[in-house]
Amino acid sequence: MNILLLGSGGREHALAWKLAQSPLCDTLWAAPGNPGIASLANCTGLDATDHAAVIRFCEAERIGLVVIGPEAPLVDGLSDSLRGAGFSVFGPSQAAAQLEGSKGFTKDLCARAGIPTGGYERVTSEAAGLAALERFGAPVVIKADGLAAGKGVTVAMTMAEAEDAVREIFAGRFGEAGAEAVIEEFLEGEEASFFAITDGSTVVPFASAQDHKRVGDGDTGPNTGGMGAYSPARVLTPELEALSLTRIIVPTVRAMANEGTPYSGVLFLGIMLTSEGPQLIEYNCRFGDPECQVMLMRLESDLVELLLACAENRLSSIAAPRFSNETALTVVMAANGYPGTPEKGGSIAGIETAEAGGAKVFHAGTALVDGQLVASGGRVLNVTATGASVTDAQAKAYAALDAIDFPTGFSRRDIGWREVAREADHA
Ligand code: AMP
Ligand code: GLY
Repeated sequence: MNILLLGSGGREHALAWKLAQSPLCDTLWAAPGNPGIASLANCTGLDATDHAAVIRFCEAERIGLVVIGPEAPLVDGLSDSLRGAGFSVFGPSQAAAQLEGSKGFTKDLCARAGIPTGGYERVTSEAAGLAALERFGAPVVIKADGLAAGKGVTVAMTMAEAEDAVREIFAGRFGEAGAEAVIEEFLEGEEASFFAITDGSTVVPFASAQDHKRVGDGDTGPNTGGMGAYSPARVLTPELEALSLTRIIVPTVRAMANEGTPYSGVLFLGIMLTSEGPQLIEYNCRFGDPECQVMLMRLESDLVELLLACAENRLSSIAAPRFSNETALTVVMAANGYPGTPEKGGSIAGIETAEAGGAKVFHAGTALVDGQLVASGGRVLNVTATGASVTDAQAKAYAALDAIDFPTGFSRRDIGWREVAREADHA
């Protein structure tokens, strides 16, 4: 079967790598792809916002499965357009993608379905937002309602910070995404991510991971899209995983189906492990980046079979995905300036040497200019390795990273630190 993958980041390079391994995959297309993906797929310059053009392409190339990587085309309804034209799509409908596209929608759904999450208020003006802050007190969390490229959330430790965040949202910093906001109770605990695949009725647990959102070592500095991750996240014990499934994921999938907007695709759950059990921080309607990279390094079963069964509403008919017991860990190499304005054009060399020892280097923000690989985005490479423990995978990932010559880039040196510390305690 011919497959079209949409997206251009490290997540999509990992997806392409795994899709291309499947005996079910004939020709793999990617739009727009990146130089790493180009070694596995035919890249094409399709514009994902032009739904008619994507449909024409799928007809011309006889595409049997479309895999949508990022959230923007999902929230924009591309999967509805493609399904309407008769294509199988991995990714939720526009109505179901509201689980990521509107924080207020998700909080209301949690309230209706009794799903554990922080207390909240939805507000549509600065005055209402400031009044709500008085009721919550600090610390408190302020979220722009819509998609804000990961920048719409402020965890405010003081009332002054909280008030600034409310004022910024209603001054228009996030445009339409900030027409509404959610004021939310501050939750305390360790964060983890859990992923499930669902076709709207059957729910299949996928894997867990832990991301590192702050730019600096020791989780300091501004928030980013994620500077590194590892999988599995052992802090999410089998017991906590089961609780997350029964108390959060399954009731969400049931509620979405009952309300006429069944959710089909991957459900990415951000969880706070509080003293009262796992609580939902947020949903995303896609794989995490870079969480996807580490989970797919561990996936032993056929990704095409899984995503196709999901797209065709027959997840109950296939075997559960199988994962290696090893840990996978990825370190993001970012361009200087990230998460502000990243420096573009810096040369990159040494990827083959880095991969010689078994590591895998996924391209996240690279371009080929006159045959030279250069940086073209904030997050540039994901250096990924597996090992018997987080400590072992971390050592292998950094050994590979140190073989890469990227003078205008930087990375955190402590990815996996929480688990490395726990492993040292248990040694
Ligand atoms: P999000 O963009 O929703 O992933 O939020 C970004 C980050 O803000 C999360 O990864 C958490 O670290 C933090 N956060 C979000 N909501 C809360 C909350 N209710 N309590 C504490 N931290 C939160
Ligand atoms: N790494 C976090 C995300 O993909 O949203």
